[in-house]
Amino acid sequence: MILQINDLSVEASGKAILEGINLEIKKGEVAILFGPNGSGKSTLIKAIMGFGGYRISGGEIKLSGRRLNDMAIEERVKLGLGLMYQHPPKIRGVKLAQIADFLARDNAKINDFASRLSLGEHLNRDINLDYSGGEMKRSELFQLILQDPQLLLLDEPESGVDLENISIMGGVLSEYLKKEGKSALIITHTGYILDYIKAKKGCVMIGGKLWCVGNPKEMFEEIRKSGYEKCRECHEPNRIE
Ligand SMILES: Nc1ncnc2c1ncn2[C@@H]1O[C@H](COP(=O)(O)OP(=O)(O)OP(=O)(O)O)[C@@H](O)[C@H]1O
Ligand SMILES: [Mg+2]
Repeated sequence: MILQINDLSVEASGKAILEGINLEIKKGEVAILFGPNGSGKSTLIKAIMGFGGYRISGGEIKLSGRRLNDMAIEERVKLGLGLMYQHPPKIRGVKLAQIADFLARDNAKINDFASRLSLGEHLNRDINLDYSGGEMKRSELFQLILQDPQLLLLDEPESGVDLENISIMGGVLSEYLKKEGKSALIITHTGYILDYIKAKKGCVMIGGKLWCVGNPKEMFEEIRKSGYEKCRECHEPNRIE
């Protein structure tokens, strides 16, 4: 088991945001997280990463059997966590090429992924500064793959990306996950990523609780047809296989 979350509750600014979350992701497994805006999906990812301002008020998070609760972000990253942000930070004064070199120290690999993700002409620019929405998402995926973590946390990787580039990103990500046997937790609203990534487990977050676990493609079709209404009616939070 790479990720184990047991009965996790999280607060931010003194407000309870997540309650009683249980989730497990095995090595090589991809889990998809759905849920309406403001339901707590990004908060779950921030709590796993250990971002300041997100206090674990109950339960625990384990990565490869190691308890993360009180661990600094950099320790978690060393243990194998990597994040693709929903809203990536812009870093003035640090070039994309510099972070790429720091992450991979492998020119062939850097040039290969830069070319596949059409980032060659951006390598000499400050990270994410004045990038278009799609360029920023490609740059995030590029950095994440070069970092090469054990568990990839992807917060809406395809949001704001045109269909052609979703196909390129989906292909690159899918090949990387398969080849390297990596695990991932992917948040999506549009479901486009499901066309490229083989994922067995899907779950729905509503009001800070995980409501359901099932086949992600089937769940997405249901959500597309009926919105989250059926999930709300289901009233079976935390029904984890
Ligand atoms: N640091 C914080 N302080 C106060 N409230 C917060 C904080 N972080 C998140 N929240 C609130 O917690 C709720 C969940 O936010 P979160 O970003 O996790 O939602 P989400 O499911 O990712 O939504 P979206 O699909 O819109 O990205 C929201 O109401 C948000 O305003
Ligand atoms: Mg979010």
